[in-house]
Amino acid sequence: MSDDLRKQHGTTGHSWDGIEELNTPLPRWWLWTFYACIVWGIGYTIAYPAWPMISRATGGVLGYSTRGEVAAEIDAVAQSNAAINDRLASVPLTDIAGDPELNQYAVSAGGAVFMTWCAQCHGSGAAGAKGYPNLLDDDWLWGGDMEAIHQTIANGVRNEEGDDPRYSEMPAFGRDDLLEKGDIEAVVNYVMSLSGTPVDAGQVAAGAVVFADNCASCHGENGTGDRDQGAPNLADAIWLYGGDYPTLIETVSNARFGVMPAWGPRLSEAQIRAVSAYVHQLGGGE
Ligand code: HEC
Ligand code: HEC
Repeated sequence: MSDDLRKQHGTTGHSWDGIEELNTPLPRWWLWTFYACIVWGIGYTIAYPAWPMISRATGGVLGYSTRGEVAAEIDAVAQSNAAINDRLASVPLTDIAGDPELNQYAVSAGGAVFMTWCAQCHGSGAAGAKGYPNLLDDDWLWGGDMEAIHQTIANGVRNEEGDDPRYSEMPAFGRDDLLEKGDIEAVVNYVMSLSGTPVDAGQVAAGAVVFADNCASCHGENGTGDRDQGAPNLADAIWLYGGDYPTLIETVSNARFGVMPAWGPRLSEAQIRAVSAYVHQLGGGE
């Protein structure tokens, strides 16, 4: 150990096998940086939200929070869109498509609404799933022009919360003993024959009679459906629940009761119109 250093700082008095510990002070620059950090730390906890309290952290004298910043940004966007949202909510529905600026805004805003509120049932690409209609095609249960789409979305289908939901109910022909098992099998074969191949062609003629008596009132004489009642077209090989024999037996025996929520109570008129425009331009709009 250098005698100079030893003279300069002295030792701590610790000594191991003749090795002594110098009492060198911390470097000045380090010490001042350390004090500066303490001062800055105290200042920070006074200025910004910091100390955890029972229900929330201390607010900080600057009143700043990242959450508040996000809220302000959202407000600013809402402010800047206020005019076009008002226009979207007030023009006649059928004028939207003819106004390029409004239509473009509606479709892109509608896409965002769709991802947030609709994709979980109809799929992120709107292709649907069993029981949830595909919105890309031109096979509509309740109608595919702007007005019909808007009404379906605003009021929903077979729900309890809408003002005036679309409503209809197919009877459960098996469960409620409205048809014999043999008649159900026959009518299912007839339904299959409308768009493809029945499993038993010998039953089609008998099935046609059962259909005319029990089904045509809703699904139409030729099985092409009725939008006033949301009764699907059974002749187009597009199935909401499935077109194979066991699924059709299940549908006719127990019926289905597809429910879609009403969006009127949850979304603004501008949002409902935006998502209507979005759905309308997906491919099947009329
Ligand atoms: C909880 C599931 C669910 C959600 C969420 C949902 N839907 Fe639906 N939607 C359905 C069901 C089920 C039907 C079919 C009802 C029937 O059988 O008639 C349907 C039907 C529709 C139809 C009618 C299709 C036709 O062929 O006439 C449109 C349009 C539609 N939905 C749009 C939307 C939009 C837009 C949203 C989001 C704002 C949305 N849906 C959210 C379940 C849902
Ligand atoms: C009172 C009207 C009504 C009558 C009568 C009726 N249906 Fe339906 N049917 C509907 C409605 C409405 C739906 C859609 C149900 C849903 O989405 O929940 C439907 C759905 C179906 C489906 C499902 C189609 C698909 O794409 O998956 C089949 C199959 C079907 N009906 C066959 C029949 C047959 C066969 C009969 C006669 C034995 C019949 N229906 C009588 C109203 C009716």
